[in-house]
Amino acid sequence: MNELRFWKLVVILNSGVPLAILAWDAAQGSLGANAVSYAIHTTGYLSLLMLMFSLMVTPLRWLTGWNSVVGIRRALGVYAFIYAAVHLAIYFTFDRQMSLVSTATEIASRVYLMIGFAALLLMAPLALTSTSAMVVRLGAKNWKLLHRLTYVVAILGVLHFYLLVKADVGEPVSFAAFLAVLLLARVVWPYLDLAPRRKKMLAKKSLSAEPMSTAVSTQRAKTKAWSGELVVASITRETPSVQTFRLQPIEGGTLPFEFEPGQFLSLAIEIAGRRQRRSYTIASSPLERTFCELTIKREEHGTVSRHLHDNLQPGDRLTVTAPAGKFVFSGKSATSVVLIAGGVGITPLMSMARYLVQTNWSGSIDFVIVAKSEKELIFRREIEAMQRTFSRLQIHITLSQEMDDSSWSGKQGRLEATWLSSCCADLRTRPIYLCGPDGMMQQTREMLLALGVPPANLHQEAFTSSSARAEKMELAPVAASAARMEPALPTFLVDSPSAEHQVQFVRQQVAADVRDDITVLEAAESLGVAIPYECRAGVCGQCKVRLTHGHVAMDSQSALSPQEKAFGWILACQATPRTNLEVEV
Ligand SMILES: Cc1cc2nc3c(=O)[nH]c(=O)nc-3n(C[C@H](O)[C@H](O)[C@H](O)COP(=O)(O)OP(=O)(O)OC[C@H]3O[C@@H](n4cnc5c(N)ncnc54)[C@H](O)[C@@H]3O)c2cc1C
Ligand code: FES
Repeated sequence: MNELRFWKLVVILNSGVPLAILAWDAAQGSLGANAVSYAIHTTGYLSLLMLMFSLMVTPLRWLTGWNSVVGIRRALGVYAFIYAAVHLAIYFTFDRQMSLVSTATEIASRVYLMIGFAALLLMAPLALTSTSAMVVRLGAKNWKLLHRLTYVVAILGVLHFYLLVKADVGEPVSFAAFLAVLLLARVVWPYLDLAPRRKKMLAKKSLSAEPMSTAVSTQRAKTKAWSGELVVASITRETPSVQTFRLQPIEGGTLPFEFEPGQFLSLAIEIAGRRQRRSYTIASSPLERTFCELTIKREEHGTVSRHLHDNLQPGDRLTVTAPAGKFVFSGKSATSVVLIAGGVGITPLMSMARYLVQTNWSGSIDFVIVAKSEKELIFRREIEAMQRTFSRLQIHITLSQEMDDSSWSGKQGRLEATWLSSCCADLRTRPIYLCGPDGMMQQTREMLLALGVPPANLHQEAFTSSSARAEKMELAPVAASAARMEPALPTFLVDSPSAEHQVQFVRQQVAADVRDDITVLEAAESLGVAIPYECRAGVCGQCKVRLTHGHVAMDSQSALSPQEKAFGWILACQATPRTNLEVEV
């Protein structure tokens, strides 16, 4: 059990103890002469106390930097509601003898009861929307806005208490003073915290690798994607060559972006003095609001995946832009689905499966998995557990390179049409989501089309295009700086990592000075200039823009035809400046 779960359990169990003791004493008849009044007072008092505790969480996090404390806020809030509901239930049952008319008349005739009742009514939507699923459904912004009502509830609760006690106002006044301090902290703290950050931001005149993330994240409020830093919370080995990296917000709490099952994020990382960017699917479910997970295969000669596997440690920070991608399935558009995964291509499909199972989707899922061998099966235990608990999920595994001495008794060999048709009924009428190595995807696509699957039902995600991979391997023996140059680049240009160039967006009439490892897309985003994109990996071609002046380097240009290259089109997500640029945007 991790630390957060342990503390959640401590809070959940301990917060219920007073209620259990009260119930026990009531059953024993030891609540004193005025038992009903005592029980009403105690439950009301406990509700207010829980409310104050829940409001203390954020200031406590700010003061101590102990981010995990956010995880217990929900339990405290729900307990505040439970105690308030029990408070009313005792009043209704024993004080008003379960008479609705008498209860309503009494509430309507006394101001303090009206206030208390209003507080309870306002608490109900807060308790009902306290789950992670509701955060996703309402959207983080709306959810936060709704949950500001907690302060209104607390003010009403304290007022209710104050008007009730009449003479000895010591306790309600203490609650009021404490609440005032909490409210003041909420108002003042962000200013204290923001002031130094603002000063720092104003001091920056040009964009470099690090400030980029800050600049983008502040301007991104208006756009759908978020950029900034996340911290590595844990690293888990899945197979000998695959690890899962769990990322969470630096200050804890909920993720600063929302995503759909199957989407990915782009990661920017400095390796050997150069900024590298890669896209990785968010393999976890969007319902996990406090973290996201990337499951990454270590490519033997890969620059970024090898670096992440060999060097990344819990506590390290990563600059990400999220989310992106249209390869998504959340169950709304169909009543059944086929997911086909090859190797590490399982990641987007796993996010979909996790989400569908968590939401108890009413449709049926056939999850076809192709792995090289048993030990290369990613998420095996979790998938088997999901199948046991969710009867509408069927898993079909085939091992393409199974060894003779293995204990594996399931299907062996490549994916083939007869087996696929026998596993998945009605292939022609169901949406099919396919992700895996290039060759496997191409063969599977051809097979499915031959089986009569309409192309519109077939959805694919490419992690890389084969030409991009070939391009990389061709370039590998050449010195890095020369390999990254466009052929048109004059040879006298020096590829200095610290060089800065101006990128001008001609139609928008804005420009930014950027380092030569910042892409044209990142430069545009920092200025609030919208360039459409999808993969951020040089695969989809969505970010094509025309360069009217200057030279760029591109890691991958496989999404451009020779004609496009000849007419000056570039991929904004790949192009980094080698001279001052003028871009036709
Ligand atoms: C939308 C999207 C989602 C993705 N999701 C995931 C995911 O969930 N998990 C995941 O693991 N990956 C994912 N990827 C792939 C990921 O972005 C990277 O492409 C991958 O990690 C390889 O990056 P790299 O820097 O390690 O390799 P690169 O340095 O980019 O090399 C690319 C390939 O070329 C080969 N290569 C390079 N140099 C040589 C050489 N000299 N000789 C032989 N071969 C060479 C490498 O082995 C590697 O296979 C995704 C990609 C996209 C576009
Ligand atoms: S966003 Fe896909 S190629 Fe640039």
